[in-house]
Amino acid sequence: MSFLSNMFGKKKTKSVLGVDIGSSSLKIVQLRREGETAVLETYGELALGPYAGNEVGQATNLPADKIAETLTDLLREANVTTNEAGISIPFARSLLRLITLPRRDDPNEQRTMVELEARKYIPVPVSEVQLDWFVVPEPISEGQPPSDKMRILIVAVHNDELALLQGVVQGAKLETSFYEIEIFSTIRSVVDEPVRPVLVLDIGASATKVYVVEHGVVAFSHNIPQGGQDVTRTIATANGLTIKQAEIFKKEQGFKNSSAAEGGKLSYDRKSIELIFSRIFEETKRVLTQYEMGSQKSVAAIVLTGGGGVTKELAAYAKEFFSVDIQLADPFGKVEAPAFMRPVLAEIGPEFAVAVGLALRKLEELQ
Ligand SMILES: Nc1ncnc2c1ncn2[C@@H]1O[C@H](COP(=O)(O)OP(=O)(O)OP(=O)(O)O)[C@@H](O)[C@H]1O
Ligand SMILES: [Mg+2]
Repeated sequence: MSFLSNMFGKKKTKSVLGVDIGSSSLKIVQLRREGETAVLETYGELALGPYAGNEVGQATNLPADKIAETLTDLLREANVTTNEAGISIPFARSLLRLITLPRRDDPNEQRTMVELEARKYIPVPVSEVQLDWFVVPEPISEGQPPSDKMRILIVAVHNDELALLQGVVQGAKLETSFYEIEIFSTIRSVVDEPVRPVLVLDIGASATKVYVVEHGVVAFSHNIPQGGQDVTRTIATANGLTIKQAEIFKKEQGFKNSSAAEGGKLSYDRKSIELIFSRIFEETKRVLTQYEMGSQKSVAAIVLTGGGGVTKELAAYAKEFFSVDIQLADPFGKVEAPAFMRPVLAEIGPEFAVAVGLALRKLEELQ
């Protein structure tokens, strides 16, 4: 740091880090603010599989010290220069419910009512979770009296999950001011539609997260316990490949592949990649229809994200399946980066949606 810049009171620009602890890999993104823009400084990913005696792309269930060890390796490899981080909480370890209750304006009355109601939705003793909730702001329609109901988003995370994440943060020598359920991070980095509802499909390794975002609020969320690792396993079994081979081919070919063993090149049957994706999409369609019928609204688009969202020509398959506008998540579109990096950033973007969203929130904190 130069003495002069200090003397003239020039603010030191601070860098921040988003850390996404996924079931199959760790993803990090480091940003810095320059005026109104977020500048990409570095990013990186490291598969957890090999640290758990597993293949790349497969989900793991590692203890905090192992995750911290991997994260430390990743921070070093990616030349990260800050320890100020925002950390994600897996959706599968949290609970989100949008409920409707009679309007109460007194905060104490509100709290009592919400805490009583929340017990109905939380499958464990309330003392075992961190409970949070927000009153959803309603659009005011002119000439209408205020509603006698209020919508409340209940959020609960198990204490064990938070303890695990704290262990990772300490082990990797990071500092954090927040832990955020991953779907909120993704919304920040990939959803731009302000009015009409949008469905987000985060296809991870172990699970696919489906949720509808309306006016920036999560109107609905659902976990499908199938993801990229199941796609790989099915390709492997159906085509007599190892998990490792199937993972490599899947990434190379995705839906582009049409027939087995073309021109001597090792390949797989397209039906085997369709099998799991069609199951995930069937369930998505079911919950989407449920949402659309209940709310009397139709979604404007489906945004594909997560590592599974990177699958070649998945968008075309999804378009055929849903007959709705399909968009590929482009979280790096929200940050400034050198032009030569753009094609790569656009391609890998869906994998980094959570990490970018966390870093963006961390930057907002500095303002
Ligand atoms: N280019 C690609 N083509 C197809 N699939 C891919 C590609 N890149 C990654 N994947 C798959 O995406 C999955 C990993 O996605 P992601 O990194 O979003 O998962 P995660 O965050 O670790 O898991 P989860 O969100 O379920 O906890 C793996 O199963 C991997 O095989
Ligand atoms: Mg993930």
